[in-house]
Amino acid sequence: MPKKHSLYTSSIHYDHRLYMKDIEGSIAHARMLAKQGIIAEKEFDDIQKGLKEILSEIENSSFPWKQELEDIHMNIESRLFEKIGDTAGKLHTGRSRNDQVATDMRMYTKDAILETIHKIRSLQESLLNKAEQYLEVILPGYTHLQRAQPVLLSHHMLAYFYMFERDVERLQECFRRTDVMPLGSGALAGVPYPIDRNFTADQLGFNSISNNSMDAVSDRDFLLDFHSSASICMMHLSRMAEEIVLWSSQEFGFIDIDSNYTTGSSIMPQKKNPDFAELARGKTGRVYGNLIGLLTVLKGLPLTYNRDLQEDKESFFDTFDTIRNTLDVFSGMISTMKVNTDKTLPAAEDSNILATDLADYLVSKGETFRKAHGIVSELINIASSRKISLGEMDLGEHIDLSPHLEGNMKHITAESSVANRDVPGGTNPTRVKKSLDEARSILRSDIG
Ligand code: ARG
Repeated sequence: MPKKHSLYTSSIHYDHRLYMKDIEGSIAHARMLAKQGIIAEKEFDDIQKGLKEILSEIENSSFPWKQELEDIHMNIESRLFEKIGDTAGKLHTGRSRNDQVATDMRMYTKDAILETIHKIRSLQESLLNKAEQYLEVILPGYTHLQRAQPVLLSHHMLAYFYMFERDVERLQECFRRTDVMPLGSGALAGVPYPIDRNFTADQLGFNSISNNSMDAVSDRDFLLDFHSSASICMMHLSRMAEEIVLWSSQEFGFIDIDSNYTTGSSIMPQKKNPDFAELARGKTGRVYGNLIGLLTVLKGLPLTYNRDLQEDKESFFDTFDTIRNTLDVFSGMISTMKVNTDKTLPAAEDSNILATDLADYLVSKGETFRKAHGIVSELINIASSRKISLGEMDLGEHIDLSPHLEGNMKHITAESSVANRDVPGGTNPTRVKKSLDEARSILRSDIG
């Protein structure tokens, strides 16, 4: 008979995703027990055979899931009893569900981290390809969402490359901290059998074993690390989403999003809505929510294991699914996006965004920068009162402001502006090309 309220305590509808890790962990544990003479070799063989049958039942969807058995561990163990009888009862020697579930989660999380890094790498590659495709395209760079100075589009793309590079570094660090095996901690105090934890860790591909059994069964910091790395990465994706939304609007018109990543409106036939970018922006909120959720679950827990910890899973799976889907969407959306140079060019040629360059020109003629800044401000005010742009002014008329003003701004262009930013990290085309090469070699060295 199912226990009353077993629906409340059950987690099988989500922790079934741990089945592969649970089975791998059990086989490694049983092999260690046999090596240590804690169970017989024949018993290990039976356990291993039974577990492998269970694995194929799960994979071909014939496994009889039982919700009243609550979780993945009990479902598998109880099925093992049906298959091999009492020997199944030996599998749990020197182990508890507390160290078992912590081990399963760490194994699953390690894979999740590697997959996330892999997907970030693909997105970085899409960004570099786009940057190369539009290497010399100039557009306005913005501060306060106001046109500020001309920049190369490729420079803008590389800015995101480096954000994602930091995300990879954070995830690599997260991997290192996840790569510690809790198994052998038992329920909380360790186990009274002569187990060989390092042997089990080796089989499961863990880099090391935990140092303190009480910490090991109650620690979920590795999940917090994943949630926070994922949150920061989603924040980067969300910022990019915001720019995609803006840039694809008619007001900007800088890019066209491929129709695979837009949707029409049910009533306005002219609409091409950037729903994928918007959803990524929106889903960032739930990824943050998952981080706060787990922090809150953990904050009041006395040592050691408490059932609250079961609440670590759904949000983790949700964040992992969200970030991997979002990264896939962005790789596709970036690689298929088209840049409208007929829109970026005129915007970049708006001579007002060359105001800093005019000031820099006056500095080259001997004015101090502060003075030059004041002169150009004045010129901008005059231009704006006459409803013309800086480039349309006859600067020679304003010789009273500075003796160095003459002619017009023809010698100052968007091209000369970017070319002049020839410092490491600047938007000068040769610098950006070099930066692109460096970015490529980062990708190559990580894959190689
Ligand atoms: N389903 C449980 C969880 O995810 C497994 C551990 C149960 N341990 C226990 N002492 N009830 O946390």
